[in-house]
Amino acid sequence: MKISVYIATSLDGFIAREDGDIEWLHNSGHGDVDKSEDFGYEALMSSVDALVMGRNTYEKVLSFGGEWPYGKKPVFVLTNNGVEIPKRISDTVSSLSGSPQKIVKEMEKLGHRHIYLDGGITIQKFLEAGLVDELTITKIPVLIGTGIPLFGPLSKDVKMKHLQTNTFDNGFVQSRYEVIK
Ligand SMILES: NC(=O)c1ccc[n+]([C@@H]2O[C@H](COP(=O)([O-])OP(=O)(O)OC[C@H]3O[C@@H](n4cnc5c(N)ncnc54)[C@H](OP(=O)(O)O)[C@@H]3O)[C@@H](O)[C@H]2O)c1
Repeated sequence: MKISVYIATSLDGFIAREDGDIEWLHNSGHGDVDKSEDFGYEALMSSVDALVMGRNTYEKVLSFGGEWPYGKKPVFVLTNNGVEIPKRISDTVSSLSGSPQKIVKEMEKLGHRHIYLDGGITIQKFLEAGLVDELTITKIPVLIGTGIPLFGPLSKDVKMKHLQTNTFDNGFVQSRYEVIK
């Protein structure tokens, strides 16, 4: 089982403003980047079997309305409190709770081999549990001062091996790391 994180942060390490706003993600590039540039998103999506995301991230994606961005990929929403899943996506979206270890076991039981993990709190819990294999972090050239952080407290250091860094003409800097286990 491989678990990958693919996420964008401000230069000061936030994934969203305190109120969940992520507009700055789209407005903070400077200079031109090819319209077809997707920053490796499709390559990642085509390599994963399923997504596991926190309830806050799910509700944010849902709030955008329009077409469900994950197509027919199974999406597991983590929540201890339950979540509303609209009928139009209920054949691919379901909710789940439990420790990261339990969630990974369930994914394995379902035959999933590569998971895209999303959401700040969710990523922090899986990192603490030693269950993240790879992180791709796209640094957006903006400081937003306060917000929802990507990383948080850990009971021990998590060492990373740097695999690759790509820079884009709009100032985005994307680095890929493997978690050393
Ligand atoms: N910059 C980016 O690329 C990017 C990417 C993703 C998300 N975001 C933004 O980040 C924000 C969301 O991140 P977030 O840190 O607030 O949280 P999150 O990880 O999306 O959601 C946290 C919630 O997930 C549930 N959860 C997590 N682990 C669980 C587990 N093991 N078992 C049961 N439930 C679990 C809990 O829900 P309950 O409270 O229901 O129990 C928890 O409150 C949104 O604004 C989103 O737009 C940005």
